[in-house]
Amino acid sequence: MIQVALPKGRLGEKAYEVLAAAGYECPSILEKNRKLTFENPEKGVRYFWVKPSDVSIYVERGAADVGIAGKDILLEYRPDVYELLDLKMGRCRMCVAGPEDFYDDPNKTLRVATKFPHIAGDYYESRSRDIDIIKLNGSIELAPILGLSDVIVDIVETGNTLRENHLAPLETIVDISARFICNKVSYKFKYQEILAMRDALAKNL
Ligand code: PRP
Repeated sequence: MIQVALPKGRLGEKAYEVLAAAGYECPSILEKNRKLTFENPEKGVRYFWVKPSDVSIYVERGAADVGIAGKDILLEYRPDVYELLDLKMGRCRMCVAGPEDFYDDPNKTLRVATKFPHIAGDYYESRSRDIDIIKLNGSIELAPILGLSDVIVDIVETGNTLRENHLAPLETIVDISARFICNKVSYKFKYQEILAMRDALAKNL
């Protein structure tokens, strides 16, 4: 049985559709209830829904053999897992954003609000820019509006959230998409099953 951690939400549902099309269907997953785990012994697969930012924790620690995680989560938390496939879905960009007319005064420490302190820290370190990171957990766009920060480092998908708040993307740090990840021990012991799943996914993208 391959244990698959799926991220709750739109990305996870889409990922499940690709897995089902690839031959790993599990009809009970579509029932509307509060159940968290679903299995189809015939297909040798067991799914469970977890918070998107927790997928890599389940996979790293072997509670799941494989999972679907955003590249943003992998860059931020750097889990010790294998990244087996770019699923080319859940595409977005990690950006620096701020007021449309933002001017970066190099003589001042830049205040950066973000849910991604490692990504932001690495980016500004590579540019030798002194920053003060303000770690938030959501609604990051509020920070520059209320003067809590100068800019934000955050995910931009359609750009609507920024536009509606009179903010603009200023720099792109990295392109993001969903990845098929794998526990390192499972990769050894369930090698054929996991590679078969990866190949079936790759074919159905
Ligand atoms: C994410 C991100 C932006 C928004 C970007 O937030 O943090 O706020 O989506 O999408 P857009 O460019 O299509 O507008 P999320 O919905 O995850 O909620 P959050 O405020 O809790 O971070």
